[in-house]
Amino acid sequence: MSDGGVALVTGATGGIGAAVARKLAGDGFKVYVGGRRRGRLERMAAEIGGSALPFDVTIEKDVAVARGVVEAGGAGLDVLVNAAGVFDLAPVVDTSEGILARNLGVNLAGVANVTRAFLPGMLAAGSGLVVNVGSVAGWRAFPDNAAYSASKYGLRGFYDVLLEELRGTGVRACLLEPGAVDTSLWDPLDPDSVPHLPDRAQMLRPEDVARAVGFVAGLPGSVAVPLLRIERA
Ligand SMILES: NC(=O)c1ccc[n+]([C@@H]2O[C@H](COP(=O)([O-])OP(=O)(O)OC[C@H]3O[C@@H](n4cnc5c(N)ncnc54)[C@H](OP(=O)(O)O)[C@@H]3O)[C@@H](O)[C@H]2O)c1
Repeated sequence: MSDGGVALVTGATGGIGAAVARKLAGDGFKVYVGGRRRGRLERMAAEIGGSALPFDVTIEKDVAVARGVVEAGGAGLDVLVNAAGVFDLAPVVDTSEGILARNLGVNLAGVANVTRAFLPGMLAAGSGLVVNVGSVAGWRAFPDNAAYSASKYGLRGFYDVLLEELRGTGVRACLLEPGAVDTSLWDPLDPDSVPHLPDRAQMLRPEDVARAVGFVAGLPGSVAVPLLRIERA
């Protein structure tokens, strides 16, 4: 299902989403790139010959508008990659309601919002692929990760239910759980100067994750990869 398919990648102004958008465009997909920063989105769309789709995954009406734009394009989505995400580190005693709300809002409710908008079209078509970018922090605990981990463990629960509901529909789903990836997500933390954080040089590259997405998206519709953990060897 590569040549001529239609894909939407959220978080395409960020490291992983941008790499995934480039990979899918290179594999022949028409790619809608999602994110809030319009300038970046437009540059990305121009670079890959795709379409900019500016929207906030946490705002339902904006997600509905994005769905309308894709539907107006005439073809349903073949691939949805939920890569938008935020990452706030704080010890439990400093994990405020605001930090929790932000991480759960983007990483969990945001994925639910976008999936809810685009899944009905896939179900009606009896085909399609939903790729959710989880994290190693969705199955393993790290200090200071309470809010982020809660969102990614939560995403796992959401995803496992999705997988059960998709059985027999022809629509496939994949949860990607990468270890640390060198992207702008880490910029505020300056990991190389913090002893218990991984050095950037030891992290995966966004292109590594993109290759995994390209692999899954390039498989025949009869083959599913429900879970893919990616780690630095
Ligand atoms: N980097 C890692 O070590 C790592 C490891 C495992 C999993 N992940 C996961 O991979 C995904 C991508 O992370 P990344 O490393 O590429 O991070 P990044 O470079 O910081 O990019 C984050 C992306 O999310 C978008 N985003 C954030 N809030 C949004 C919102 N409310 N609505 C729409 N888009 C929003 C940002 O776009 P705008 O600012 O333009 O809206 C940006 O495109 C995340 O889910 C993250 O949890 C990352």
